[in-house]
Amino acid sequence: MNQIKPHGGTLVNRVADVRLKDEIAEKASSYVKIELSDREISDVEMIAVGAFSPLTGFMCKEDYDSVLDNQRLANGLPWTIPITLAVTKEKAESLQAGSFAALVNDENEVIGVIDVAEKFSIDREKEALKVYGTDDKEHPGVAYLYEMNDVLIGGEITLIKRRKYEDYNEYRLDPAESRKLFADKGWKRIVGFQTRNPIHRAHEYIQKCALEVVDALLLQPLVGATKKGDVAADVRMTCYELVLENYFPKDRTALVLLPAAMRYAGPKEAIFHALIRKNYGCTHFIVGRDHAGVGSYYGSFDAHYIFDEYGREEIGITPLFFDYTFFCKKCGQMSSYKTCPHGADDHISLSGTKVRAMLEEGKTPPPEFSRPEVAKFLMESYKKKEDYKI
Ligand code: ADX
Repeated sequence: MNQIKPHGGTLVNRVADVRLKDEIAEKASSYVKIELSDREISDVEMIAVGAFSPLTGFMCKEDYDSVLDNQRLANGLPWTIPITLAVTKEKAESLQAGSFAALVNDENEVIGVIDVAEKFSIDREKEALKVYGTDDKEHPGVAYLYEMNDVLIGGEITLIKRRKYEDYNEYRLDPAESRKLFADKGWKRIVGFQTRNPIHRAHEYIQKCALEVVDALLLQPLVGATKKGDVAADVRMTCYELVLENYFPKDRTALVLLPAAMRYAGPKEAIFHALIRKNYGCTHFIVGRDHAGVGSYYGSFDAHYIFDEYGREEIGITPLFFDYTFFCKKCGQMSSYKTCPHGADDHISLSGTKVRAMLEEGKTPPPEFSRPEVAKFLMESYKKKEDYKI
């Protein structure tokens, strides 16, 4: 079956062959070690499994500059988010272009290696303004950027040790596996959905509107690092399991985790998210209101407009844009500003802050906002979890 091509044409695979893993690990024990942040670990994994195709490693300066200046890799392919590895100046001095370094996690285990190609300085102010559209350190993506080390290391990576998880393993598919799943099911047109929040009715509405015009829906909650205040991934996953059990057609829906870190880069991240879903084999991608936004840094539909800055062919995956959706009491159903003629007084739409306030007061979110199973579970987990905040 003809599937959509990965970005750049080939699905990257930088996971070491099992026969070579021990040999690479053995050699790596004598390399200079670079301790990775949580985001960098997830970037290594995303690169290695091809989710970031065509990237084969952390960006060198030419790509970094080109992504910031042109929203493209140096070879011209659309790309909006720098994928970089940052080290201290002292560490950088111990690294030589042309040599290897070991990539280690916070337990000092070698998870992979990098073939160091280049060292260059991070340009925080430029990156903040170009990627996030602001240099306000209250923005979580900008705050992260200003905490990063000073020197960026570019070069191809090889992953030798993957993170092991105790839960949700049935939903942990790599792009090659999701592509196989789509082929096995005979799904030709698949719409991908990005999310970092517990599922609510507005999500479900746009997912199902999209599903009406394609063969299948790929629900892809992002489970890499998120900002403080976002709901924990396990809570979000349970919400998804509850709605899948009760409200979605099993033969047309797949749930696959996205182990990427969230950047909160609004429009730039919408392009990035779309390209990643193309790599997972999706032909369509949902972009709703304030996609990947935070606070009021972006216009509600900036993440739609940015797609006009590229040719359709070069993005490859087809974006499906949705207006602001809500439940309308007069229409008696889910609607959007595009389809509903009534006023805001008739609309039921809750912000995260409002939902948190309700949970705090012991009030369950209404069925027009949340499916009852989800609302009940959110109430229970809110009571139980100290770290749980919406
Ligand atoms: S995001 O950071 O991953 O974008 P969230 O999980 O809330 O946050 O959103 C997932 C997707 O649903 C995004 O495409 C977003 O634009 C869309 N979305 C969320 N809420 C609404 C809404 N009320 N109306 C339209 N689109 C929405």
